[in-house]
Amino acid sequence: MKEKKISPSLLSADFANLERDIRMLEKGGAHLLHVDVMDGHFVPNLTIGPPVVAAIKKVSTVPLDVHLMIENPGQYIDDYAKAGAAYITVHVEATHHLHRVLQQIKAHGIKAGVSLNPHTPLSTIEYVLQDLDMVLIMSVNPGFGGQSFIPQALDKVRALKKMLQDRNLNQVEIEIDGGIKLDNIKEVSEAGVDIFVSGSGIFGAPDPAAMIQRMIEEVG
Ligand code: DX5
Ligand code: ZN
Repeated sequence: MKEKKISPSLLSADFANLERDIRMLEKGGAHLLHVDVMDGHFVPNLTIGPPVVAAIKKVSTVPLDVHLMIENPGQYIDDYAKAGAAYITVHVEATHHLHRVLQQIKAHGIKAGVSLNPHTPLSTIEYVLQDLDMVLIMSVNPGFGGQSFIPQALDKVRALKKMLQDRNLNQVEIEIDGGIKLDNIKEVSEAGVDIFVSGSGIFGAPDPAAMIQRMIEEVG
């Protein structure tokens, strides 16, 4: 069985104290750090670029899970790969040339992921499944932290799990992002998720490191 991983979203961290917050997440046992890159076009919000990812990489001992919510991601893959990403995930809705972008990511020897917005069907990735290391199912509309979990995401995870099993692609990880909290993480895990992104669910807790540990226990 694949290891279940917690990937806290730095979007909810204190940007003036990123190193302090990263230490706290590491102490809690975070397996990955989720970095939300937004361009003000694909999503309304604007966040961070490659120099900040490179700075995070310098102080982090856990791999970086970089979620690109940007138009034309192909233009920036090389920058984020050089900045130190371990995973780069692009949105299927944001590129006309998904297959090419995935090859671009893999050429850097890092993990290639594709993300689907809540309304986007799984059929859009059917013919690239064999090129993927990870599929990220959005369980909120991307752009902001602190939104409520969209329950239809659970059916999508179950259907994706079956698609992967039918094709003997069980090594492909399933990630979920948006509205993940201690009270729904077990159900989400049972649907077939391997990687759990949580921003406000972790940073909103009085003791974020202890919250990560409790989440690990719930999915373990
Ligand atoms: C949303 C981002 C998420 C966000 C999740 O566009 O992709 O990673 O930080 O935040 P929560 O866990 O608060 O829903
Ligand atoms: Zn994200």
